Amino acid sequence: MRRIGILTSGGDAPGMNACIRAAVRTALAHDLTILGIRRGYTGLIAGDAVPLERPAIRNTIHQGGTILETSRNPEFYTKEGRLRAAAAIQEMDLDGLVLIGGEGTFHGASLLAAETDPAALVGVPGSIDNDVYGTDYCIGFDTAANCAVEAIDRIRDTARSHERLFFIEVMGRTAGFLALESGIAGGAEELVIPEEELSIDRISERIREGFTIGKKSAIVVVAEGKTPGISFEIAREVGERLSFEARVVVLGHLQRGGPPTMRDRVLGSLLGAAAVEALLEGRSGCMVGEIGGDLVCTPLDETWRKKKPLDENLRRIFTFLSE
Ligand code: F6P
Repeated sequence: MRRIGILTSGGDAPGMNACIRAAVRTALAHDLTILGIRRGYTGLIAGDAVPLERPAIRNTIHQGGTILETSRNPEFYTKEGRLRAAAAIQEMDLDGLVLIGGEGTFHGASLLAAETDPAALVGVPGSIDNDVYGTDYCIGFDTAANCAVEAIDRIRDTARSHERLFFIEVMGRTAGFLALESGIAGGAEELVIPEEELSIDRISERIREGFTIGKKSAIVVVAEGKTPGISFEIAREVGERLSFEARVVVLGHLQRGGPPTMRDRVLGSLLGAAAVEALLEGRSGCMVGEIGGDLVCTPLDETWRKKKPLDENLRRIFTFLSE
């Protein structure tokens, strides 16, 4: 291993910069040359890379977003696109590549490895959705969840003052991690998550029960699922059922920005260093993650083929904590 690259791909996540910084410092400590590939797979296909030296990563640990920029590139999901990426990796003379991203990034990376094996590939889980198998937490989840909790707290003040029912929609695509953990931390009355069938009856009934025991307002946390904006329809139906004014707040990309929390900075640092160390140990085709406090390497194709389950215990206790 003499020369490696690093890129961020898919949705940006707070803590990605801490991860890049750690990877660069670890690489330089081992006399490796490290190139930053710009704009994710778009830059990889184009061979758009800059050498990363210490000045490039100085004063970035507290910044959200990604200094390397990112993209979702449909071309990488074609064999032709991946062949172009493999040629660019050879052209850049890379022995190894660190890929920070989520399920989509690792799906693409495992196809690339299977078809052309252009260099050793090591993934790092970075996604506010937290839906990557092979790690308890992904970089960015903690910051996004804290953002959602702050929003819930703020809305609770106005919901209580006006005796209103609020539906707060959080990101997470087809996973309910953000909704479940922010719902617990924000003291929500009810949850809508993609892992469970939507029931207007159940939501309405639980809110009605709350009102009969003296609640004057309620908050339902809704995971966006496949169709962001679904909260409007759910709010309309539940509001009609209960004859109660229902309002909707969609948090959207607010959750993806801002300074990373301490937890995301530490996780990003830990996994950034671990990814470069994994390359130095001769590993390839895997993702570094943290499970139960231990560093683990999971084969890249398991990270997106296997479904990471929600914490059943958290889901169970939500039911009575929200009463
Ligand atoms: O995967 C991260 C995520 O923020 C999802 O929660 C969300 O559905 C999606 O990205 C939004 O993607 P984009 O920024 O491309 O609209």
